Amino acid sequence: MKKKILVAISGGIAVYKVAQLVSNLSKKYEIQVIMTKHARAFMSPLTFEALTGRAVPKAMFTPDVHYDQISHIHLAKWADIIIIAPATANLIAKMAHGLADDLLSTTMLATRSPILLCPAMNTNMLNHQATVANLELLQNRGIHILESERGLLACGDFGSGKLPEVSIIQETAEKLLEINQKQDLTGLEITVTAGPTQEALDPVRFITNHSSGIMGYSIAEAAQARGATVNLISGPTNITAPPGVSLIKVISARDMFDAVQSVFSETDILIKAAAVADYRPTETFRNKIKKQEGDLQVKFVRNPDILAWAGEHKQAHQVLCGFAMETEDLLDNAKAKLQKKNCDMLVANSLRDEGAGFGATTNVATLLWPNQEPKALTLMSKKDLSELILDELLKIKKVK
Ligand code: CTP
Repeated sequence: MKKKILVAISGGIAVYKVAQLVSNLSKKYEIQVIMTKHARAFMSPLTFEALTGRAVPKAMFTPDVHYDQISHIHLAKWADIIIIAPATANLIAKMAHGLADDLLSTTMLATRSPILLCPAMNTNMLNHQATVANLELLQNRGIHILESERGLLACGDFGSGKLPEVSIIQETAEKLLEINQKQDLTGLEITVTAGPTQEALDPVRFITNHSSGIMGYSIAEAAQARGATVNLISGPTNITAPPGVSLIKVISARDMFDAVQSVFSETDILIKAAAVADYRPTETFRNKIKKQEGDLQVKFVRNPDILAWAGEHKQAHQVLCGFAMETEDLLDNAKAKLQKKNCDMLVANSLRDEGAGFGATTNVATLLWPNQEPKALTLMSKKDLSELILDELLKIKKVK
């Protein structure tokens, strides 16, 4: 079956190049074009209709063809990938802020397919702080941004902002299509732990940490997309679990330990991204602790170390990936954890690095292995880091 590409066009002079792109892609893929009102001012939809053999829907709520075939929700799900070219400053700003007031922008909000965004505009508009910030936001959310080229622009200015050559857009889109179709984890069961744990002090209070769960959920989503059977064991977070993963919700470290033990024998790869509380209050009071005169002292006991347990009990074919969040001596501490917990790989990050840490959609990580030099990675989205972690773990799995 032919792969499906949605080409979304917003209003810029570079639209004339997109006709060539659509012509090339139509020879290999099923192509649907959608255009904003301003894009239609630059070029007639008829050009694209003739090239693709598909109607370009006129508006959101006018069922000009078969409505269910062109609604934003249908298109959002239909596409294997989406190319936005040219992407104007206005469209980029709308996407960054979740605005959706026409067919194109609603489709972008509704889709979960990979998006290749190709900005093209005047240099000053591209370099404006607002556009720079919006592009950064979109990149951090996992949207792939194809950098524009430098040259003489249609407005007469010289600088960056030119839509890249059609061949470059096509090559990048095809690479993305390939990644999206990658089913290299099929047949593997992957267990991911995510988020914080909560350790109750009484029915009202608990001890926890700042973990958002984004990293673990992102790994679970990527693993599922690549064909793995995924167990996601999650402490309390505000994130919706990706469709298709088996979610086990837990509260405390001891709950998480039980959940990991329950799936461990079936697990091929265990990824422990959760921030587990090392201690819990010695006693969980049945009733709310009432204020007293003077200070309150709380005693804590150690929680089980789930990763260390898995390291002790893993079978030869099982791969274990730990995480380490440090605030000092990152490499030394991470190396010690890798060894002590018998991990096959450890993903270490420092809370001190900009772009790393709790709640961020990006991370700066260093990967460590028992018999290999550590690899320091640059700042990247947690989505990209997830793919990279899975690539590395698959290499280890193949050897085992
Ligand atoms: N971990 C775990 N069970 C615990 C504590 C941590 O499974 N009770 C796991 C985490 O999920 C992570 C790794 O161990 O994959 C390292 O967690 P981290 O909090 O960085 O280190 P700790 O071992 O707790 O050591 P320390 O708090 O001294 O840094």
